[in-house]
Amino acid sequence: DAIEKGGYEHFMLKEIFEQPRSIMDSMRGRLIADQNHLMMGGIREYANKFVAADRILIVACGTSWHAGLVAEYLFEEFARIPVEVEYASEFRYRNPVIRETDIVIAISQSGETADTLAAIELAKSKGATIFGVCNVVGSSIARASDAGAYTHAGPEIGVASTKAFTAQVTVLTLMALMVAEKRGTIENSKLRQLMVEMENIPAKVEQALKLDAQIQHIADVFKDVPNFLYLGRGYNFPVALEGALKLKEISYIHAEGYPAAEMKHGPIALIDENMPVVVIATKDSSYEKIVSNIQEVKARKGRIIAIVTEGDDVIPEMAEFVIEVPAADEALVPLVSVIPLQLLSYHIAVMRGCNVDQPRNLAKSVTVE
Ligand code: G6P
Repeated sequence: DAIEKGGYEHFMLKEIFEQPRSIMDSMRGRLIADQNHLMMGGIREYANKFVAADRILIVACGTSWHAGLVAEYLFEEFARIPVEVEYASEFRYRNPVIRETDIVIAISQSGETADTLAAIELAKSKGATIFGVCNVVGSSIARASDAGAYTHAGPEIGVASTKAFTAQVTVLTLMALMVAEKRGTIENSKLRQLMVEMENIPAKVEQALKLDAQIQHIADVFKDVPNFLYLGRGYNFPVALEGALKLKEISYIHAEGYPAAEMKHGPIALIDENMPVVVIATKDSSYEKIVSNIQEVKARKGRIIAIVTEGDDVIPEMAEFVIEVPAADEALVPLVSVIPLQLLSYHIAVMRGCNVDQPRNLAKSVTVE
C-alpha cells in the first residue's frame, strides 16, 4: 500500500501531484505544436461527421459531467457546434430528442457508470454516433462507443476524481480544437497559440502545485466551518462546481458551486461573516464582472478566498486570502485553476480526520442505478 502511494500519505494526494505528468500523457502523440500536429486517432475516421454535425450531446455523471461543461464552452466557442450537457441519469429517462446526425460524447473515468452506459445505448438505438472519452481501457463504455479517445491518466484510486478530470478536459480540448480546425471555425493564429499553450499547461500545473503549503494554511483556518460557497464565471464556472463537489465528497462540509452572477438569485442570502466564499477570478474576459461579484460578497462580510492570476493587484485588496496561479488562456484555465481547489479539499478533509481515499457512502464507480 505504502509503495503504491509512492511516498504520499493518500492516493488522492499522489494523484493530484501526478497531474503534470498525466496531462502530458493525455496529449502524447496527439499534439506537437511546433510540427503543427494535432490529431486524435479515434476521431480521424469520423471527422466528416463532426464537420457536418449540427449538435453535440454530452452525457456523463459527477466530475465527468463537469468536464463535459468545460467541453461545451470549448466546442461552442471554437467549433461553433451547439452542445447540450446532460446528466446521464436524466437523459436516459426523459424521452430526449435524439437524431441520427447527433454526436454523443460520453465521458467516464471508469467507463462503467450504469447511467452513462444506458444513456449511450439509448442514443445508439436512435442512430446517433457515440464517442467515448474513458480512462479505463477496454471498459464497457469504451466498448459500446463507435469511436473515442482514452484519457491515459493511469489508474485513479482515490474515489474523488482529480487527475481523471484534468485528463478529460485535456482530451476534450484537443478534440474541440481539432474539430474547429476541420470546420474552419478557428483562426489559424488562435489555433497555433492554443496548441503552444496546451503544451505549457503541465509546467503551469507543476507551478500551481507549489501552492500546497499556502493552501494547507488556508485549510487550517477554515476546516471547522459548516458551509462553503464556490463562485466562477465562464470557463471557471464548471471549476467552481468541481471545487464544491471535491470538498463535499471528502470533507463532508456542505458546499455549493454557483455561476458568480447567479449568486444574487439565492446564495447571496446565505452570506455573512461566517461564510467562506471561494471565488475563481483569473484574468479573463469576465474579470471586471467577477471583481464586482467579489465586492458584493465583501459588502456582506463574506470571507473571500480568491484564486487569481499571478500579479493581480486589485483582488488582493479585497480578499482575505489570495491564491495566485500562473496565467493561461481563458479557454485552458480550468486545467490550472482547479489544482488549488483539489488541494484545499484534500487538506481540509485530512485535518477533519476523514477517510480521504474512501469517503463514506461513495463508490469509485457506480455500476448500479
Ligand atoms: C462516482 C465517482 C466520481 C465520478 C462519478 C462518475 O460518483 O465517485 O468520482 O466522477 O462516479 O464516474 P465515471 O467513472 O463515469 O467518470
